[in-house]
Amino acid sequence: MKDVLEELDRRRDAARIGGGQRRIEAQHAKGKLTARERIAVLLDEGSFEEFDMFVQHRATDFGMADQKISGDGVVTGWGTVNGRVIFVFAKDFTVFGGSLSEAHAEKMVKIQDMALKNRAPIIGLFDAGGARIQEGVAALGGYGEVFERNVRASGVIPQISLIMGPCAGGDVYSPAMTDFIFMVRDTSYMYVTGPDVVKTVTNETVTHEQLGGASIHTTKSSIADGAFENDIEALVEMRRLIDLLPSNNQADLPEIECHHDAEAIDKSLDTLIPDNANKPYDMKELILKTLDEGDFFEIQGAHAKNIITGFGRVEGRTVGVVANQPMVLAGVLDSDASRKAARFVRFCDCFNIPILTFVDVPGFLPGTAQEYGGLIKHGAKLLFAYTQATVPKITVITRKAYGGAYDVMASKHIGGDINYAWPTAEIAVMGAKGAAEILYRSDLADPERIAVRIKEYETRFANPFVAAERGYIDEVIFPHSTRRRVARALRLLRNKHMEQPWKKHDNIPL
Ligand code: HXC
Repeated sequence: MKDVLEELDRRRDAARIGGGQRRIEAQHAKGKLTARERIAVLLDEGSFEEFDMFVQHRATDFGMADQKISGDGVVTGWGTVNGRVIFVFAKDFTVFGGSLSEAHAEKMVKIQDMALKNRAPIIGLFDAGGARIQEGVAALGGYGEVFERNVRASGVIPQISLIMGPCAGGDVYSPAMTDFIFMVRDTSYMYVTGPDVVKTVTNETVTHEQLGGASIHTTKSSIADGAFENDIEALVEMRRLIDLLPSNNQADLPEIECHHDAEAIDKSLDTLIPDNANKPYDMKELILKTLDEGDFFEIQGAHAKNIITGFGRVEGRTVGVVANQPMVLAGVLDSDASRKAARFVRFCDCFNIPILTFVDVPGFLPGTAQEYGGLIKHGAKLLFAYTQATVPKITVITRKAYGGAYDVMASKHIGGDINYAWPTAEIAVMGAKGAAEILYRSDLADPERIAVRIKEYETRFANPFVAAERGYIDEVIFPHSTRRRVARALRLLRNKHMEQPWKKHDNIPL
């Protein structure tokens, strides 16, 4: 008996060392943790249960029959984050560069299937060189199986990808189909084909970082939803995100004890809006003052900064926030902002997370660059996403809500449940100056006359009361009571139930 127990210990130790001490040291020298070290930081202490530790590849070509390492380049299993079950796979770069073989893919698929069956979130930690080059088509088949599971689980359980090293070739499409992608600065990069192939095909010379580093993917391409300084920070932030998310699309919202009084008023908000309507102010201040403890997990914070998206809590329960940011491009809606917010709104709707929308939007961004870039379809994505969402939708218009953008930003007309406006709100077809200049074109030559016309338009329309008279706004509220009003509205809407007509699925303007 003792021999068998010792044999198990010996085999486990061999598996845990992965590709060996030399490769572990090389991993550390790059500032990266190993797969198992990462899992230990991500999960509650001692909660990880590993599966398939002894799986090995079955390849024989290129001398592979003599190179077998238990685990085959990916560590899989389950554990808990603050007591809640999550499934995890972590690519082990020390074993064949974390590359994906047939057996490696089978391990991933098993964990994906278990996560779906048990309706628990799954997180993948990526650090790998793509398809196992020695295996060829078996690896491609494996990727296909992984992709199929990603799509099947989409909208049922949250799927999160954290890129912590190379992520290339076949490895990129699984993260791309998950709900969120995060990266680690300087040590991670993501691309379909690397710098060498790029050089051969297009003759461009680029570095890994320029082609697919965290700074590119969080700003330009918007592939990544956020980036962190190092492995530890990234993993700790993933715990924070998982805490905010329901386990599946039928689970209750996570709820934690709230120590922030929702009845308290905040007088500082009464002076948030500057006297001059063209002056910016920081919408984040309102977000932080509305959420519990000012705690906000921002999504896509570095991309399309004219709109803010992210999660927080009100009275201990998760809420998704979408807000125009007057500090950037005056908070205008452009293609990037529309796509960013649309995807966020759809995530919230999948997982029954109420959406709180703060509106200060001067309209859609005019110009050929936007129109040629498909602004109509991108704007329609946001309109479609909000309209389709059946979760509680609470809207607060703080200042401008002009034109089509008024309709789009969770207005009453597309299913806003509770629509508030501050007394500073201006709900109109367009700003007073633009409106007067079109209506009274003949007065343009006379600055005094046109100023009077602008004033007239302002007095008539630059307020929330015209919309409130029609019931488009449920109540004009004091800025200082925003948190209280939002908390009450969320309480009211806890049992909201709404069904859409049966359809196979919709046809969102992709
Ligand atoms: C097998 C691989 C591997 C791979 C790396 N290794 N990638 N083994 N298959 N795809 C091994 C290396 O041989 C090496 O083994 C160890 O992992 C570490 O690799 P290094 O090159 O020494 O590391 P580094 O310098 O950090 O470079 C990392 C890298 C590079 C940039 C990822 O290894 C690389 O370019 N790999 C190939 C990437 C690639 O072209 N993949 C195929 C993509 S095609 P030793 O024994 O020395 O430690 C694809 C198509 C699928 O994925 C499409 C499906 C839809």
